[in-house]
Amino acid sequence: MEITSPDFRLITKRLILRPLTLSDADDLFEYQSVAEVVTYIPWPQRTYEQVVEALAKATAASKLDYEGDFALLGFVLPEENKVIGQISLMYKSKENQTAEFGYVINPKYSGQGYATEASAAAIDYLFSTGKFRRVYAHLDIRNSASEDLVKRLGLRKEAEFKEEEFFKGEWTDTMIYATLKNEWINR
Ligand SMILES: CC(C)(COP(=O)(O)OP(=O)(O)OC[C@H]1O[C@@H](n2cnc3c(N)ncnc32)[C@H](O)[C@@H]1OP(=O)(O)O)[C@@H](O)C(=O)NCCC(=O)NCCS
Repeated sequence: MEITSPDFRLITKRLILRPLTLSDADDLFEYQSVAEVVTYIPWPQRTYEQVVEALAKATAASKLDYEGDFALLGFVLPEENKVIGQISLMYKSKENQTAEFGYVINPKYSGQGYATEASAAAIDYLFSTGKFRRVYAHLDIRNSASEDLVKRLGLRKEAEFKEEEFFKGEWTDTMIYATLKNEWINR
């Protein structure tokens, strides 16, 4: 099934990953409005209106057909029927068959491996499309929770960049962690 279908699902041991809809705004507001959550991601601490606006934009554009496309999946705890975090998937290069992924979890649900589980399912999915041979995450070097997550996934550190980005008012060092399809399958 295509990721653009509202019925698209990735099922893991404890979670369901699915396309977000506008009715998820309350769940997203619960974490997108928290200062600590957005410290290392390129959004402001969002108001409810900003959550709805970003959600409407992302859901309208969500697809992974061509280079530059972007898809967003929420991960849901089935027993609570609640979106507790989100995974972003970005089609970075057709020629180089490369995708980027990102992840955010509601801090109320962190520390239980949910973001790692959702990220692993997203990487499985990216490779299953046959479009990608390399998947990477781009991290702020200070984001130790994020680095722990990519290490848990078994991704390989590829690069560290000095002052790569002028981010939220300061020059910021960043890192790339990646995996190739054959490394991922044989991990
Ligand atoms: C990065 C982020 C998603 C990590 O969240 P997290 O809750 O630490 O990650 P997980 O949900 O995978 O949980 C991992 C923790 O659960 C523990 N855990 C418990 N059960 C587990 C299981 N079954 N599997 C894996 N880990 C498990 C791990 O040991 C780890 O604990 P630790 O933090 O004490 O080492 C979160 O900090 C976040 O949303 N940050 C803000 C957004 C952001 O910066 N995103 C990254 C942009 S690059």
